[in-house]
Amino acid sequence: MAGRCHVVLIGPQGSGKGTQAARIAPRLGLVHVATGDLFRQLMTRDDELAREVRSYYDRGVLVPDDVTLRVLLQRLDELERETSDSFRGALLDGYPRNRAQAEALDEVLRDRGDEIAAVVHLVVPRAVLIERLSGRLICPQCGATYHVRFSPPKTPGRCDHCGSALVQRSDDTPEAIARRLETYEQQTEPLLEYYRARGLVVDIDGNQPIEVVTEAIYAALEPHVGDPV
Ligand code: AP5
Ligand code: MG
Ligand code: ZN
Repeated sequence: MAGRCHVVLIGPQGSGKGTQAARIAPRLGLVHVATGDLFRQLMTRDDELAREVRSYYDRGVLVPDDVTLRVLLQRLDELERETSDSFRGALLDGYPRNRAQAEALDEVLRDRGDEIAAVVHLVVPRAVLIERLSGRLICPQCGATYHVRFSPPKTPGRCDHCGSALVQRSDDTPEAIARRLETYEQQTEPLLEYYRARGLVVDIDGNQPIEVVTEAIYAALEPHVGDPV
């Protein structure tokens, strides 16, 4: 089935892309597809590709475009195979991150007869980002995201969903955080102009409580994506 509508989520590290995507995707009938999550999953393996990805990931450097596109396409193909008609579109979290990736995505979607319905831009001041990233905990088993103060698990150190022990992300070190934010400013932020020229961008104030941000995103997307049938 062709003609799917995808949504792109753009925002700096710690702006809440993963947090919001997990809450919004099911409400809009979209599938949350995060290249960062795909890489974290891939890095649990012990092979050449996993080692290559880790060598970039841990330092907070972008994984090469060809590897990233391959991993993304694999996931999209898998979704089409496994969920076929119920797959209405992806909520893309963390892709694209530079001009080459944005152009590659356009080409991939054109070939499939799909389109981008909207680009959500999460706006959060830098000082807040650092505070969020330094207190973040994730579940290595199911990928759920927590914050020691802003979004604590019910039992300290344990995942609400699967009970696994929570960990810090290997790229949430001060050095990697600084590098990731710099890459965002230099390579990813300029993409907003690329999409603004096509009238696709909605700016959302991400510096509000998690539930408030969710409702703002939902209200902005609902007219473009509609409710699941
Ligand atoms: P990725 O996993 O995408 O990480 P990121 O872009 O660095 O973004 P984050 O996941 O850190 O931030 P987020 O916006 O999702 O915030 P979150 O919701 O967790 O990428 C990791 C790496 O993979 C890259 O560095 C690169 O190496 C590689 N990679 C991925 N995609 C790639 C690509 N396309 N090309 C090349 N390489 C790629 O929230 C953060 C914290 O804040 C949490 O603790 C959360 O609980 C808390 N929080 C969230 N919202 C709020 C709120 N409203 N109020 C208070 N606290 C909040
Ligand atoms: Mg994330
Ligand atoms: Zn879990």
